[in-house]
Amino acid sequence: MALPKVPMPPSLQLLGAAAGTSFLLDRLAPAASLGLLTTTAILFVLEFIAYEAWLVIVYPRFFSPLRHLPTPPDGRFFTGQTRRILKEPSGMPMRDWVENVPNDGLIKYSIWFQDRVLLTDPRALGEVLVTKNYEFVKPYHFRNGLGRILGIGILLAEGDEHKRQRKVCTRDAILFGIEMKTDLIDQNLMPAFAYRHIKELYPVFWSKSRELIGNLLGEIESNAKKPKMAAPTVTDPEKTPIEHQPDAIDVGSWTSRATLDIIGVSGVGQDFEALKNPDNKLNNTYRKIFNPDRTGRILQLMGIFLPFWFLKRLPVKRNTELNDASTYIKQTCRDLIAQKRTAMAEKERTDIDIVSVALESGGFSDEDLVNQMMTFLVAGHETTATAMIWAIYLLCKHPDIQTKLRQEVRSKLPSIDDEVTAAQVDECHYLHAVCLEVLRLWSPVSVTIRVADKDSSICGQFIPKGTTVILSPWAINTSTHLWGPDALEFKPERWIDADGKANNKGSAESNYSFLTFLHGPRSCIGQKVSLEVV
Ligand code: HEM
Repeated sequence: MALPKVPMPPSLQLLGAAAGTSFLLDRLAPAASLGLLTTTAILFVLEFIAYEAWLVIVYPRFFSPLRHLPTPPDGRFFTGQTRRILKEPSGMPMRDWVENVPNDGLIKYSIWFQDRVLLTDPRALGEVLVTKNYEFVKPYHFRNGLGRILGIGILLAEGDEHKRQRKVCTRDAILFGIEMKTDLIDQNLMPAFAYRHIKELYPVFWSKSRELIGNLLGEIESNAKKPKMAAPTVTDPEKTPIEHQPDAIDVGSWTSRATLDIIGVSGVGQDFEALKNPDNKLNNTYRKIFNPDRTGRILQLMGIFLPFWFLKRLPVKRNTELNDASTYIKQTCRDLIAQKRTAMAEKERTDIDIVSVALESGGFSDEDLVNQMMTFLVAGHETTATAMIWAIYLLCKHPDIQTKLRQEVRSKLPSIDDEVTAAQVDECHYLHAVCLEVLRLWSPVSVTIRVADKDSSICGQFIPKGTTVILSPWAINTSTHLWGPDALEFKPERWIDADGKANNKGSAESNYSFLTFLHGPRSCIGQKVSLEVV
């Protein structure tokens, strides 16, 4: 499937208008013209200034239908909330605004001279995520930037193409009032993510966890043998540089390697062997793509303002590197699919990974499957790694919860050297509650974005086409309006029912209060996998 067409940037439209006017002036009133090029340049600058003044000052204050929405009080005249958003971790200002700005479901703020509409309550979330889901799409620059590497897999597809890939099943279609073509409903990704199938992946999670524990123990042992460096006088241990903490372990690197291996084997049927040998070519190439260097990050930022075709052609090392790395990974995926197809022709069932199940459904071409494989890697790797880091952090901060969890795990699960069954894991209700509470308090995705694809409305407020809408799991998941006064506390018990079993709603009244995986037809398809990985 092709990348989405990007609307022509306004600067090019202005340039066209300036060139046209200059041409007419040159022909009709040559005395007033300073020559084709000079007149074009002057007209372009004047038009640009007028356009920006309209966009930044006049339209938002006097004409925008969003101008009456409540706004955070800390904005500046020109830059709005830009400074604060750049200064604080993504999602943090939204946490404050949802809590403290009185509103009726929507808050307006501005960044880089553009208005954003932040959704703050279940009613607004329900409209954007469910009833009007396909009216609010992912931003063009996001789809183009990532689509260049991933292709248009399920994460980036929109409309009917998304329905086809995901299977918005008949039940969902009725439930969510989504228009559905009947020929779209059979071959899709949903069966690959069904619980009965995810259960088959537990042994993969377990054996990779065993490998991770072995590595961590190895590092602890070798740390103990290292000569101790004198620690600088820093009062807060969390701020002591890691090289001065001989017993410290860089958990971030280990979780990232472990989850890449897990998502590799369970998602696409390829062991990246990042735990065993992080310097192998596949692991290094993958990281080159998804851990961009400084130039990569600048290019990503420029993607918000400049057309994608232009950025793609810039003669910078990052572009060549990205093309080579993406070609290598995609070729690896193609080879894997070819192997799976051969295996499938010979026997009934190939592997248990998610892509093999999708392949068996028969609904995807090889190129489609390559796109899905790339998508699962990017969607499933850093998210689960981040969740794992937060889990370790929160358990360190709450030794009482750590002890209670250890007791449950030791009484209900076998030793790490033995094999585990899905039924045994499902009996660990406190473990389930701890995972959900970690994912609530520090959701790996702090903020995500939608753009109105046509004129629409949310909670009765008119939303013009092109408006950017912000969904912030960090803000919703910890709102005291939705979770009560202890919203910011780490309390796994809020996920446990009176009968001692874990539930999936927590103590909040509405399902929409837990936004970590979003909701509706575009919610995280890997939600069940994630809960087991974490
Ligand atoms: C803790 C771990 C995870 C979190 C917090 C998470 C969160 C999310 C969120 C918030 C979205 C919606 C993004 C948006 O539309 O703006 C999403 C979508 C998605 N996630 Fe996850 N995810 C996790 C793990 C995974 C895993 C393990 C996989 C795959 C094996 C996966 C596959 C996907 C896919 C394919 C989509 C796109 C679904 C669609 O648009 O229909 N995710 N995820």
